[in-house]
Amino acid sequence: MKKAIITGITGQDGSYLAELLLERGYEVHGVVRRVALEYPRSRMRRILHILDRVTLHSASLESYASLFNIIADLRPDECYHLAAQSFVSYSFEDEFSTIQTNLNGTHYVLSALKRLAPQCRFYFAGSSEVFGNVPVSPQNEDTPFHPRSPYGISKMAGVELTRNYREAYGMFAVSGILFNHESPRRGAEFVTRKISIAAARISLGLEREIRLGNLDARRDWGHARDYVRAMWLMLQQDEPRDYVIATGRTRSVRDFLDAAFTRAGLDYREHLVVDETFYRPAEVHELCGDAARARDGLGWSPTVGFRELVHEMVDSDIALFSGRGGLAPGEWEVGS
Ligand code: NAP
Ligand code: GDD
Repeated sequence: MKKAIITGITGQDGSYLAELLLERGYEVHGVVRRVALEYPRSRMRRILHILDRVTLHSASLESYASLFNIIADLRPDECYHLAAQSFVSYSFEDEFSTIQTNLNGTHYVLSALKRLAPQCRFYFAGSSEVFGNVPVSPQNEDTPFHPRSPYGISKMAGVELTRNYREAYGMFAVSGILFNHESPRRGAEFVTRKISIAAARISLGLEREIRLGNLDARRDWGHARDYVRAMWLMLQQDEPRDYVIATGRTRSVRDFLDAAFTRAGLDYREHLVVDETFYRPAEVHELCGDAARARDGLGWSPTVGFRELVHEMVDSDIALFSGRGGLAPGEWEVGS
C-alpha cells in the first residue's frame, strides 16, 4: 500500500485529494496545525467525514524540526505540499508572514525529504498567480513569470525551488501551475464562494446586498475535484515535469455574479454595491491557461464546466443556509 502525506489536508484541495487517494487505496497522512486538533468541528470541517480513515500529525510550516520529525517517522512514497497562506488579498496586508510561510514551508519539506526520503515523489502547489500581468494569453509552462503580489512571489519562488531540487538532487519534484479552482468547499473569502453565499442568503431573505471590488477581473475557473486528479496524475508519470492545469476559458467576476444570482432567482444589479476596499494594490486582470501539455501527457481534461460549477456552489449554499447543510449557525463564516 502506497503511503502519501498531504500538507494542507484541511483546505479545499487537501480534502478532495485525501478522498481521491483513499479511493485509490493509499494510506493517507495529513499535516495539520495544532489548533485544528483542538477545534475539529470547525477547523477540520472539510474532512470530518474521512477522519476515521486518515492519520493526522500536527506540525507548523514555520518549524523545520516539526516537519522533519513527521517525515522521519513516515518516509512517505508521495508528498503533496498544499499548505499555504492562499489568499492573495491578505498577502498584501501581511507580506512577511505570507512569504515566510509559503516559501520556508516548502523549503523545509523539500530539505527534509532530500535527507530522509529522497525517493518520495513531491508535488508543489504552484499557482497561475506566478504569471501576473504577462501580455501573453493563454499562459503555458513556457510563459515568463511576472507575479503581482507577495503571494504570487512566494509561489514563483516555490516553483523555482522545486525545479532546483529536481535538477540538483535528481528528486521527482514537480509543480502544478494551477489556475483558479472552486467548489462548495471553497473558503468564504474567495470571490466565487463569497458570491454563492450571498446569492443563497439574499434569496432566503437573510441578507440584502453583496459588496465586491473589481468586477472586470477575469479568471479561468475550474472545479477543484478535477484539479486534484491532475495533482495525482503528475506523480504517476515516468518523468518529473511541471504542468499547467486550466480549462482554457476565461470569465469575469461579473459573469460569475450574474450566473450565480440568476441560479438563485435574483438580479444581481438590485443587490450589488461596488466597494473600493476590495480592490487590490496590484491586480491580475486576466488569467487564461493552456493545459495542452497536461492533456497530451497526463490524459487530463476538466469534466465540470462553468455553469455546472456555479450551480453546484449556489445550490449547496442554499441547502446550507436553509438548514439542510449540516453545519450549525456560525460555522459557515469560515467556509464549508
Ligand atoms: P485553502 O483552502 O486556503 O487551504 C490552505 C491549507 O493550508 C489549509 O489546510 C490551511 O490550514 C493550510 N495552512 C495555511 N497556512 C498554514 C500554516 N501557516 N501552517 C500550516 N498550514 C497552513 O487552499 P486551497 O484552495 O485548498 O489550495 C491548496 C494549495 O493550492 C495552496 O497552496 C494554494 O495556494 C494553491 N493554489 C490554489 C488554487 C485555487 O484556485 N484553489 C490555485 C492555485 C494554487 P488551516 O485549515 O489550518 O488554515
Ligand atoms: N476575494 C475577493 N473578494 N475578490 C474579489 C472581490 C471580493 O470582494 N471583488 C472582486 N474580486 C476579484 C479579485 O480582485 C480578483 O481579481 C478576482 O476577484 C479573484 O479573486 P479571488 O477569488 O480572491 O482569487 P485569486 O484569483 O486572487 O486567487 C485564487 O486563485 C489563485 C490561482 O490563480 C487563490 O485560490 C489563490 O490561492 C490561487 O493561487
